[in-house]
Amino acid sequence: MSLEDLKALARHLKLSPVFLYQLYDEVSSELIIERQIILCDNLTCLSKGARELKKYLLASMDDFEEQGWEVEFRKCLGSCSTGPCTLVCGSLKQGVAIRDLELLLKA
Ligand code: FES
Repeated sequence: MSLEDLKALARHLKLSPVFLYQLYDEVSSELIIERQIILCDNLTCLSKGARELKKYLLASMDDFEEQGWEVEFRKCLGSCSTGPCTLVCGSLKQGVAIRDLELLLKA
């Protein structure tokens, strides 16, 4: 991601470019697993529906693991205003609903 891309994304997400860079650096430096779901379980996303998503993921953990999905929970993915947020295979998904997670199990 170029500096200009990062600044444009920060403007779009209404985040500090420095904060976004730190988040990007942290996320991009980790190994992105092909079948990985990371759910934000920070307060803002919890209030926007992540609580129900987390319950669903925890209740369905065996099904996800059987299909090779790794499920993790993190505090803030940097897009709080558009939550609940997940990273699916390294791609940010916003406004996630249980139906979106159910579709991953069927994929
Ligand atoms: S609180 Fe969920 S992305 Fe920030």
